[in-house]
Amino acid sequence: MPHPRFTAKKRSTTYATIDPARPELSVKGKTLYVTGASPGTLGAGIAAAFVTAGIAKVGVFGRTKSKLQQTKADLLKINPDVTVFTHVFDAGDAESVGVAAHWARSEIGAWDVFINCAAFHSPNPATIQGSEEDDWWKTFELGVRSVQYFTKSFMPKARPGATYISMNSDTAFTRPEGLPKMAAYTASKLATAKLEEYLSVENPGMRTFTIHPGVYRTGMFDQWVRDLGYPEDSPSDNLSLAGNFCIWLTSPESDFLKGRYLAATFDVDELLERKAEFEKDPKLLRITWAGTYL
Ligand SMILES: *[C@@H]1O[C@H](CO)[C@@H](O)[C@H](O)[C@H]1NC(C)=O
Repeated sequence: MPHPRFTAKKRSTTYATIDPARPELSVKGKTLYVTGASPGTLGAGIAAAFVTAGIAKVGVFGRTKSKLQQTKADLLKINPDVTVFTHVFDAGDAESVGVAAHWARSEIGAWDVFINCAAFHSPNPATIQGSEEDDWWKTFELGVRSVQYFTKSFMPKARPGATYISMNSDTAFTRPEGLPKMAAYTASKLATAKLEEYLSVENPGMRTFTIHPGVYRTGMFDQWVRDLGYPEDSPSDNLSLAGNFCIWLTSPESDFLKGRYLAATFDVDELLERKAEFEKDPKLLRITWAGTYL
């Protein structure tokens, strides 16, 4: 499956410009909330990068208590000085998200970085006609609902200038011939990306980014190999790329990319060189129809 090539260079592991050791990228004293961070997932890998970089507090939200506790133990192994909170919730349930946000505001405090991986839910692959109704909708809805519930419940509890990063997938733009039986998942990703364009425009005080994180050997990768014939030897990226790219996105250096759809595999040095182009062109790396902007 071809992957986006907006920059000439394609990154697959961390590099100097996104190295959290750069003082400009410091996350010291900051608070991260992450949803969908069970052990072995992308969310857990990204949380690990923030903890490695010295973030002060992490709130981990997910469906299964034992998994959250394992993620917490893993993060504390990286840095025993980090404070990790866990909370069981369902990102697709309004009341559950409301309760979690309220709890987090009083127990953890306001957030600086919110990583939404909750939409990273894998379907039972099926054609639209052959799909099982409830499973199909659950796959479609989780991502979309999570954005609306985040906006209503968590967003008001952010610090000024906070950064919201949402995990999307370049499969949103893959032709159905290239990824059959994945309509619920890919259509949901595209819908979620559109919601986040609105989110960014409606809330200019929040730094909003939608990203394709790269390809990683997570449980989802294994499922795609098993159920979709995704080639087992597909090239994958080093998790340090997604983690440190997200850390770079939290710094003011990425301000000119707010509200755009990015890939962690894009070369940040090239993006920085093209800053003037972004400032002039509101359609660059946003959802367009054949490059037009309506
Ligand atoms: C991933 O990147 C990290 C940081 O550069 C490095 O230490 C590690 O060896 C890499 N892992 C693989 C499998 O290449």
